Amino acid sequence: MQDIQRIGVFTSGGDAPGMNACLRAIVRTALTNGLEVTGIRRGYEGMIEGDLVEMERRSVSNIVQLGGTILKSARSEAFMSEEGRQQAAEHLRENGVDALVAVGGDGTFRGASKLKEEHGFAVVGCPGTIDNDLYGTDQTIGYDTALNTAIENIDRIRDTADAHNRLFLVEVMGRDAGFIALNCGIGGGAELILIPETITEMDVVKERILSLMSAQRRSTIVVVAEGDDLGGAQGIERALRDDPEFSDIELRSAILGHTQRGGAPTAGDRVLASRLGVASVEALLDGHSDVMVGLVNEEVKLTPLPNVYGRRKSIDYDLLKLTQILS
Ligand code: F6P
Repeated sequence: MQDIQRIGVFTSGGDAPGMNACLRAIVRTALTNGLEVTGIRRGYEGMIEGDLVEMERRSVSNIVQLGGTILKSARSEAFMSEEGRQQAAEHLRENGVDALVAVGGDGTFRGASKLKEEHGFAVVGCPGTIDNDLYGTDQTIGYDTALNTAIENIDRIRDTADAHNRLFLVEVMGRDAGFIALNCGIGGGAELILIPETITEMDVVKERILSLMSAQRRSTIVVVAEGDDLGGAQGIERALRDDPEFSDIELRSAILGHTQRGGAPTAGDRVLASRLGVASVEALLDGHSDVMVGLVNEEVKLTPLPNVYGRRKSIDYDLLKLTQILS
């Protein structure tokens, strides 16, 4: 096992509330254990450009409550090439970095695995994404905050939808995963939830909406994940507006978008991020590499990175059935 003296830490991909709490835990655990810490700004982009900064205990003061990420984030095209990764590895070596903690999602972990495979760095991942779509952890850092933001917005939309007897299509984030849609739909009392994991047929959606609206409802809310087959809220809105059967129904769409990514992390996300940040450094010190730290049934578990990005975390289909009973 290689002796680790300095770790590099970075956030990459879509930012998630709680990433700062995680950085704080990583930096302080490493320093407490006598390691030195390099912060890498803007994820793999900053690694390629050598945008590195020395991290002290005070570099992470007063950030546990902040959304975003103090190290900033990016989605890097350049890191996809061997040349880009070579440049990144050279900057890390020049700075004395022996091991890395990567906070991000599956794209981030694919990159980290490549760095280990091609350049021999020890790497550990912390699951940071609002999508909650990572195998190997019950929840990802940022998901709880995003979910609560989405529910708060649905509650607001319900007030105005009810006042006007309107049908609302509310689009939430999730290109490939319906965790936010499913759970904010249930928590927000949505009448219909459309997610990428199931096949959504327009005829079935139309029939369900018509039956809901004709049952003298005061309002109907359809929560749709951005990655649903019908093209999100806009795709559905277009189809409904083209259908004469919907001409008497007052319809509006709201896309919650990046509001779900920002804001102060919830208590749950702060604690999860802190626990996983500590666990990631401990995993490196115990000689683990190419693994992600996750929390499964309240216990820290290590999952090989290739299993994390090679598998899909499944949604709970029983939860989906609940909406039909509850709406
Ligand atoms: O992966 C997190 C996420 O917020 C997805 O839910 C969303 O599809 C995507 O990132 C948006 O990415 P960007 O901010 O790069 O447009």
